[in-house]
Amino acid sequence: MKGVFDQQKWNIVANELEAENLKLASYDNTLIPSLGNLKNRKILDYGCGPGVLALALSKLGANVKTFDISKDMLELCSQKIGQENVFSNIEAIPKEEFDNIICNLVLCIVPEYEIKNISSNIRKLLNKNGTAYIGFCNPRIFNLPESRLDLRYSAGYSYEDNHSYRKIKKEGGYEITELHRPIEWYKQVFNDAGLVIVEEIFTPEYELSGNKIRDFIIFKLRRK
Ligand SMILES: C[S@@+](CC[C@H](N)C(=O)[O-])C[C@H]1O[C@@H](n2cnc3c(N)ncnc32)[C@H](O)[C@@H]1O
Repeated sequence: MKGVFDQQKWNIVANELEAENLKLASYDNTLIPSLGNLKNRKILDYGCGPGVLALALSKLGANVKTFDISKDMLELCSQKIGQENVFSNIEAIPKEEFDNIICNLVLCIVPEYEIKNISSNIRKLLNKNGTAYIGFCNPRIFNLPESRLDLRYSAGYSYEDNHSYRKIKKEGGYEITELHRPIEWYKQVFNDAGLVIVEEIFTPEYELSGNKIRDFIIFKLRRK
């Protein structure tokens, strides 16, 4: 079975990410309507992966730029939205530029120092009235053995403890290391980075094996 145990190695599953349908139906279909009218909106997709969302937003009329630490992901993304829209160097991205910054499923796979870094970068890149949408796997369901999207191995920690655990993505059939932090921990980091929470959005609830599940949480944030 393929496995991703390092934030630098997501290129191994680029094809699997490109083919995701369950995640798209849950996450992207919650996020996109909450963005509203996208015509001429300046959007940065931070940690864009292979660019599936970036392409969808471009087709809806947004002016989309992307950034990722993986060269392979950026290559796939530039094939979809053009090389001129893809940044490989965070320092080259114009500051205070974007109406929206989207950061999907990145914070739950990076170490704590990187979450602080990414939050601070997002703060610097948002324009005065801009909003960020930062989303990840819902920490509240960290201890469920199964969701529609994945199977999890319990690491035996409680909700309050920052820790890592392994999960198998049903779609794509690969294993990853996920990093759990309580929602309150993320809120503190966002606050310290100069971001204010405007809204907490969850993907739609469903029931599996008697558990009520909302797979993802998306924070809508603005500058303090
Ligand atoms: C789980 S994938 C999510 C991709 C995409 N956002 C999506 O929703 O399908 C995580 C992505 O984050 C990228 N990544 C990991 N660490 C990063 C960092 N520190 N800064 C920017 N991107 C990062 C990986 O290369 C990978 O493309």
